[in-house]
Formats: sequence, C-alpha cells, structure tokens
Amino acid sequence: TTIQAFRQTLLAWYDQSGRDLPWRRDQDPYHVWVSEIMLQQTQVNTVIPYYQRFMAAFPTVTALAEADQADLLKAWQGLGYYSRARNLQRAAQQLVHDYHGVWPRTAAELQDLVGVGPYTACAIASIAFGEVVPAVDGNAFRVFARLLLIDADIAQPKTRQLFMKIIQPIVDPQRPGAFNQAIMDLGSSYMTAKNPDPEHSPVRAFDASYREGRVLDYPVKTKK
Ligand code: ADE
Repeated sequence: TTIQAFRQTLLAWYDQSGRDLPWRRDQDPYHVWVSEIMLQQTQVNTVIPYYQRFMAAFPTVTALAEADQADLLKAWQGLGYYSRARNLQRAAQQLVHDYHGVWPRTAAELQDLVGVGPYTACAIASIAFGEVVPAVDGNAFRVFARLLLIDADIAQPKTRQLFMKIIQPIVDPQRPGAFNQAIMDLGSSYMTAKNPDPEHSPVRAFDASYREGRVLDYPVKTKK
C-alpha cells in the first residue's frame, strides 16, 4: 500500500541520513524528556551543548529532583523561558515522589507531568516507550499539510486534533519514535518553511504539494 511504501521510504532515509543527535543515542525517557523540553522554544544546534552540560550536571531524574535551584537556573542560562527549567524540576519531583521513580508510559498519562503538553507527551511516549502516536509539532503540521494537501488552518487550536486523526494510521506501528523523528528531520531539511528542496526529498513521490507546484502554499496559517 501507499502508506507502507511511505513508511519504508521515510525510515530507510532516516536510518541512512537522520541526524546523529546526543539524545538519540538511547531511548531513556529522561534523555528524551529533557531534550524535548529544551527543543520546545530553542533550535537544535543551540540545544546540543546545553543538553550535554545538563546531563553531566544532572544525570538522573533523582539528581534533577534534588538539585539546587540556583545550579539548575545557571545550567539553563542562555536558553531562556526559565519556567521550563522550574517545571522540569517540579516534574522530576513528581516522578520521584508521586510515581516512586516509575515513568508513566502513555501520552495520556505523561501529560500529568508539569510542563508536558500534548506534543511533548506524544514525543516521549513514542520515542521512549514505543506508543504508536504521532508527535504533532510545527514540523509535522508542515510536512503532512504538504504531503496530503491538508487545507486546515494550523493557527486554529482544533486543527491539531484533525492532524492527529489523519497521521495516526500513517505512523509506523513497529517504529513510532523513529517515524516521528524522521518527520522532524524532513521538516528541517527538504521540507523547511522558507527554503524547501522538495525536488530532492526522499519522499518526493508522496508529496502532493510538489506534484501540484504548490509547496509554499502549505501549511495554511492565518495571522491572528
Ligand atoms: N525537535 C523536537 N524534538 C526533536 C527531536 N527529537 N529531534 C530533533 N528535533 C526535534
């Protein structure tokens, strides 16, 4: 089927050419979680050295839960949005005290952690625990809007649910975390917002916006 061919093409490309990022070396939920929080408002290249220093300073959930807030904020200095760091520590304390160090394994449950919204919950659940759910961030909106000519306005809060429903059956059931991260890598290479290169994209054959010559018309986003 087309969906199977798409998955196979995408994952073959990801295995060959996906980015080698420090938080992709294993599937430890602590590693995935901290990286996803840092990546919420900060570019990958900026995050890399912060992530490495953070893991050296606070190597486990317990270490983070027990850290001095001053040390934590110092490690965050330059990343901005300091509420992310404070929420990270509060969530670490939730994990240690309320969950006795046992991670919740589904996107639905992960959203009970402070600072973990629907996107981050789906990223952790798929990458660390293999839950078959799409991680719908700006990359996924753009990539799937183009591939499938989805005209919904991504500025509307309800549109996320629509994309989740559309993408859910496309996610690779064997490798949901790799699938989601492959979409992120497509979104930051061949399928960028401003300077895409759809002609050389590994998924060109599946890209309806390229076929129609309308790549830059997607995603649809009204100004609010
Ligand atoms: N942006 C958000 N999450 C990411 C990840 N896991 N890899 C690369 N970019 C990302």
